[in-house]
Amino acid sequence: MLDPKRSDLCVGVIGAGTMGRGIAQVAATAGIKVLLFDSSTDVLASGVAFITGMIERAVEKGRMEEAGAKAALARIETVEGLEGFSGCHLVIEAVIEDMDLKKEIFATLDKALGPDAVIATNTSSLSVTEIASATKSPGRIAGMHFFNPPPLMKLVEVIGGIRTEAWATEALVEIAKRMGKTPVAAADSPGFLVNHAGRAYTPEGLRIVFEGIADFPAVDRIMRDAAGFRMGPFQLMDLVGLDIAHSVIEEIYHQYYEEPMYRPNIISRQRVAAGLLGRKTGEGFYVYEDGKQIEPPEAPAPSVKEASIWIGKAPDGADKALGKIFAAAGAELSKSKKPAKGDIAVVLPVGGDATTAALAEDLDPKRTVAVDPIFGLDARRTLMTTPVTEAACRDAAWGLLAADGVPVTVINDSPGFVAQRIVALIVNIGCNIAQQRIAAPEDIDTAVKLGLNYPQGPLEWGDALGPDVVLRILEGMHDFYGDPRYRPSPWLKRRAGLGVALRTPEGA
Ligand SMILES: NC(=O)c1ccc[n+]([C@@H]2O[C@H](COP(=O)([O-])OP(=O)(O)OC[C@H]3O[C@@H](n4cnc5c(N)ncnc54)[C@H](O)[C@@H]3O)[C@@H](O)[C@H]2O)c1
Repeated sequence: MLDPKRSDLCVGVIGAGTMGRGIAQVAATAGIKVLLFDSSTDVLASGVAFITGMIERAVEKGRMEEAGAKAALARIETVEGLEGFSGCHLVIEAVIEDMDLKKEIFATLDKALGPDAVIATNTSSLSVTEIASATKSPGRIAGMHFFNPPPLMKLVEVIGGIRTEAWATEALVEIAKRMGKTPVAAADSPGFLVNHAGRAYTPEGLRIVFEGIADFPAVDRIMRDAAGFRMGPFQLMDLVGLDIAHSVIEEIYHQYYEEPMYRPNIISRQRVAAGLLGRKTGEGFYVYEDGKQIEPPEAPAPSVKEASIWIGKAPDGADKALGKIFAAAGAELSKSKKPAKGDIAVVLPVGGDATTAALAEDLDPKRTVAVDPIFGLDARRTLMTTPVTEAACRDAAWGLLAADGVPVTVINDSPGFVAQRIVALIVNIGCNIAQQRIAAPEDIDTAVKLGLNYPQGPLEWGDALGPDVVLRILEGMHDFYGDPRYRPSPWLKRRAGLGVALRTPEGA
């Protein structure tokens, strides 16, 4: 069995492209001997030159000692074929995403390597179990999934296939730590952990736009300012490239046998067909000039500042906080139980839309607007109308809400606004990952924060909002649409019902 702590650890890396060169750099700088191979001698040479350049830059910037850099570079050797890896303790395969090629490589390595060596694939989307099926020793085959760029991204997913033995994944966890990474264990499944957990953010953003609730920049602004994401879903798809983003969405949907929760949207398919791929083509959801995203101007808030406002009840005192904002802007607050004639009714639904709230509370839908009580009274406010809200009522509420300088995004009716529904889906998918035993609750949160850069992990975010609140949002959407896409996860339902945290593991 491989001793991951051995001082003479030798790691082979196959493929010197984007990922292979990065993995080789990470291993060599961590003091591990590296053998590197690529079927293209040009790529192999450019890979070594790239690593040399990166390490030299680290010295120039004072992040690395000269002697350490020299030693790291001396640890990297190139080999001319797979037989060159025979003395390696671990080989990480990072060739192109092609099942047949990977199987061929694994079958060859299985014969060439000693019985204690582990063979790992860096695949993003192929089944580790299927790759292992090409070998006679599937017990030592696993996934070791680095993220791009490997030197910067802390996370490594260690993936056990159906026949992978514990010693192999345990060794990979230790070696990932030796490389300065944060490993998380995940079971072999479509998208593993991170790419699975990412199936809510961009697809639900697309669904919101598809339904005419808001436009691309509006969704991005809400998710950045009100929900705290570094990038909106459409900025993210432009960065990744819509061709890649769309194919990952389709791939995981099909691998899960057309699970509605992961349903793709025709917007992205059509935009791929139109060549609007994002930054790399100069135009995606946004236009890019000299590599810079052009932000479309935001509609200015109307200057109307006078109105009598009636506010409905909301959880956690959001109605009171909103009342203060309106009063400070100069609005008159109606104290009556029901809105008086001439009042604008402001409702604060959780998981509901403005129309349903107006009907449930017997309000005049022409004089009703909704404000998201959960996301965004501070950094950005979301104001939602019913299909018949009068423009004058909308503008008065908008002007008053924007009076203190906090930006306001006006959207059309939607159960769960924009941020509630996207975040609730992120939490729900995180819950399903836990339910399916793909990974442990704390690993799900760690992986999502490190691999996707979300402000919080899905389970901890659900706990911060309250499992009952997340359940209410999902049930509201599920009731409204009748779409199984929004059905709550059993993990969420039970924990919300029991009043325990979403991070509560089974049998705790
Ligand atoms: N790029 C990413 O963001 C990313 C992130 C995580 C995982 N991955 C996975 O990592 C793997 C590599 O992706 P990449 O982006 O580095 O691809 P890449 O195209 O940049 O590099 C692949 C390299 O494999 C080489 N190659 C092809 N056939 C070979 C063979 N028979 N023997 C040796 N080398 C061969 C190619 O010459 C090329 O240099 C894929 O499985 C991919 O899914 C990619």
